[in-house]
Amino acid sequence: MAEQGFTPPTSEWYRPSADMIKGANVPDYDAVYDLARQDPEAFWVKRADELDWYQKWDQVLDDSNKPFYKWFVGGKTNMALNALDRHVTTWRRNKLAIIWEGEDGEKITLSYWRLWQETNKFANVLRSMGVKKGDRVTIYMGRVPEIAIAMLACAKIGAPHSVVYGGFSEQALASRIDDAQSKVLITCDGAWLRGKIVPLKDTVDEAVTRSPVVETVIVVKRTGQEINMQAGRDYWYHDLMALPIAKPQADTEVMDAEDPLFILYTSGTTGKPKGVLHTHGGYQVYTATTLKWVFDIKEEDRWWCAADPGWITGHSYIVYAPLILGATSIIYEGAPTYPYPDRWWQIVADYGVTILYTAPTAIRGLMRFGEAWPARHDLSSLRLLGTVGEPINPEAWRWYHRVIGEERCPIIDTWWQTETGGFMITPLPSVDLKPGSATRPFPGIEVDIVDDDGAPVGTNEDGNLVIKNPWPSMIRTVYGDDDRFISQYWEKYRDQGWYLAGDTARRDEDGYLWVIGRNDDVLKVSGYRLGTAEVESGLVSHSAVAESAVIGVPDELRGNKIFAYCILVEGVDGSDVLEAELKAHIRHEVGPIAVPAQIEFVDNLPKTRSGKIMRRVLKAKALGQPLGDLSTLED
Ligand code: WTA
Repeated sequence: MAEQGFTPPTSEWYRPSADMIKGANVPDYDAVYDLARQDPEAFWVKRADELDWYQKWDQVLDDSNKPFYKWFVGGKTNMALNALDRHVTTWRRNKLAIIWEGEDGEKITLSYWRLWQETNKFANVLRSMGVKKGDRVTIYMGRVPEIAIAMLACAKIGAPHSVVYGGFSEQALASRIDDAQSKVLITCDGAWLRGKIVPLKDTVDEAVTRSPVVETVIVVKRTGQEINMQAGRDYWYHDLMALPIAKPQADTEVMDAEDPLFILYTSGTTGKPKGVLHTHGGYQVYTATTLKWVFDIKEEDRWWCAADPGWITGHSYIVYAPLILGATSIIYEGAPTYPYPDRWWQIVADYGVTILYTAPTAIRGLMRFGEAWPARHDLSSLRLLGTVGEPINPEAWRWYHRVIGEERCPIIDTWWQTETGGFMITPLPSVDLKPGSATRPFPGIEVDIVDDDGAPVGTNEDGNLVIKNPWPSMIRTVYGDDDRFISQYWEKYRDQGWYLAGDTARRDEDGYLWVIGRNDDVLKVSGYRLGTAEVESGLVSHSAVAESAVIGVPDELRGNKIFAYCILVEGVDGSDVLEAELKAHIRHEVGPIAVPAQIEFVDNLPKTRSGKIMRRVLKAKALGQPLGDLSTLED
């Protein structure tokens, strides 16, 4: 369901300055891209050699059982070895690893030494509670430093974490706990957002009732409001961290390169979330390399990825890759507009942020408040700006470039996915830019745009985006569901062995890539990824709804907004009251990001003869466009 009538402004070029190119970690994209293409395995070995390993690999890439690729086979490592352990034996122990600012103005800084100690302490706590290598731990927290500590402690003891975004509600949380079968859950009493408390622990209490597999809940105190603590199940984090068992030294579990590091649930085309599995070895190599080259990380940088740690962007580029590189990573807890629309610009100035990475929807949201807000702050420390999550419209691109970057900072538009682990299509700071294009693939990555049979489409024609070769941080499987892994990503181009991204894209006459949007039943709303099926099953879980269909409709601010169509059960009539009730129901069941902008009550839905809902028809109708080919329509 790609947007129609989108014309890339191919004539508009932005070229980086000579100084930018000369000083970049990778000054010549073409040379490095060619090098990687000639011998990808040798290329990745060089990158892997920059990290510490307990034992090096016997084989770089095992492709004997496609699409279950394995990287650095036989290698022994641990994410915590490279993200923490190796730094504390050097001068970096005194460098700031994390700078955190709460929405209420509270500030915490953690040096590498301190972060290492806190991680060790919590690793000991988890071990003392019986968490072993291979056990899954669910993390459902706000944006607090302890979320990084919890993730790192899990990595350290070899327990794959499953972080569930704190904006999800109880059904979403319960189904993710169930799928991962986590006995331990780490959460907060609440989180601050726009000056209000998000009651995380209340949601946990309800989710745990629905999903009784959880035996232990560890609660970080953040907001201090009254919460329910169930004796024998719930423990305060600060109490546990004060126990003698919480020693500041802990052994790092020696992991195989292919052992799981984490599961991260993301939306697919069915209501059941997909647990994307990433591993210790290849994921480290790929995320560290991409961050170092794409955002040109230098020792003195202050890197701010303004995403949430609960999404892949936060996993890869708030927590793991910056720490592997020994960088200083900034985390801000709250809303960009709280208490005023210059909060972000204040943070940039206060901490001397050099690189800012965010989503187009955030830029559009801040743009609305005008140029006076950023103008009040000294933004001269910035040298690079980035975006992720959805296509950036050229207007937002130009504003970001002119007003925030003061025409000095290249805009690094990175296309990637939960499944890819790291940036796939992206400029490097030395690459010429066009607003709205993610430019070209990262070295070592081959992409193409093809039709349904796999034939390349012509210049400026829409097609399916595919990735033609394996890469170290690729998804290993869908947790517990190898069949779904194959059918989702590999079946369509099984003969060719290509990875299907699920996006529509085109390539222009300069070879630049333009990602247009999803072409499956996945929506991007404010950069968040949601399945239409998740919203639909949330709606039908309400007793008034018999059937529903959900579509995404273009929205200036959010990229897409959700429109829902509901057939009500016999005897129930649609009303404004019911619409409001259904919205509240979705907010409670799935989360605020899934609330439809509009719900329409209908008598029937357009379906194919085999019973599949034709969302394309609903969308065309909502947009007042021609309905297209209706020959497969049932009625
Ligand atoms: C979309 C986020 C255009 C795309 C890291 C992809 C983008 C989905 C871009 C993955 C971009 C991400 N330009 N579209 N720069 N970056 N997307 O898994 O549709 O939350 O398939 O990962 O976001 O979303 P996910």
